[in-house]
Amino acid sequence: TIKIIMDTDPGIDDAAAITMAINDDNIDLKLITTVAGNVTVDKTTKNALKLVRFFNSDIPVAAGAKQPLIKPFEDAARIHGESGMPGYDFPEDLPKPMNKSAVEALRDAIMASDEKITLVPTGSYTNIALLFSEYPEVKDNIERIVAMGGSLGMGNMTSAAEFNVFTDPHAARIVYNSGVPIVMVGLDITMKALLTHESIEKLPTLNETGKMLHDIIIHDGDNSDSGIAMHDVNTIFYLLHPEAITTKEMWVDVQTEGPAMGETVGDIRGAYHDGKTNASVCVDIDAAAFNKWFIEEVTNMSK
Ligand code: BDR
Ligand code: CA
Repeated sequence: TIKIIMDTDPGIDDAAAITMAINDDNIDLKLITTVAGNVTVDKTTKNALKLVRFFNSDIPVAAGAKQPLIKPFEDAARIHGESGMPGYDFPEDLPKPMNKSAVEALRDAIMASDEKITLVPTGSYTNIALLFSEYPEVKDNIERIVAMGGSLGMGNMTSAAEFNVFTDPHAARIVYNSGVPIVMVGLDITMKALLTHESIEKLPTLNETGKMLHDIIIHDGDNSDSGIAMHDVNTIFYLLHPEAITTKEMWVDVQTEGPAMGETVGDIRGAYHDGKTNASVCVDIDAAAFNKWFIEEVTNMSK
């Protein structure tokens, strides 16, 4: 099993990614930490707790950063709704978040693990940047970071920037220059592996989890005729099915200022870094395999 920690801002596609991670036996989800992003951190924390409660799971949830390191916070409620996870009536009796902050919880969980942990951020990287600044020793017990965010091509916030990196470009810059290997799961594949309307219509016929996912996914503002982007779910798909995704090694850095603020700049030509790389960038994906896997995963869930 792959030991992971998810650092998230649920968020509709985050919710689907957490659902896969909680339920797949090949993944051992140790901790969920939350960050401000799609909506405020109070809401993203509540949404993570709703999912944990829905699956009767005992995975701890720790609340993290209320705002980016430097840039003012802007949410994405226009895509994810006011609550961040609209459309389904989750139980109201929610467990409590941990009695420590995300950074402390991350440190403790990473240091306590007998095997190296894979960090899976699906929101902006504020908590991870703070963790690396405060407790750099954790890096030695991190396998790698499989992060949703960034794009070699177009952005989805600005022409240049993807939302998670745009939200906190300074944190992204710290994480990309941290020395910990990164898999960049960006828009280059997530806009390709849309969950088709056919797949979405199947979900409620499968089980209660399928109904829950269907009911929230149809509220996603990131919707087109060919389907709905499930950005964050691509991180979990990558962990389980790397053979369905093509990656390219390169150096990636992040713009923190100007019109391209939040852009992930991949040194595709290898012009600046002497052959040194810090990231495996996902550049292509088998979209049909992604859809097939998504439906199979939910079909196999016990709820
Ligand atoms: C990312 O932005 C958020 O709105 C999604 O949850 C995903 O993490 C896609 O750009
Ligand atoms: Ca997200």
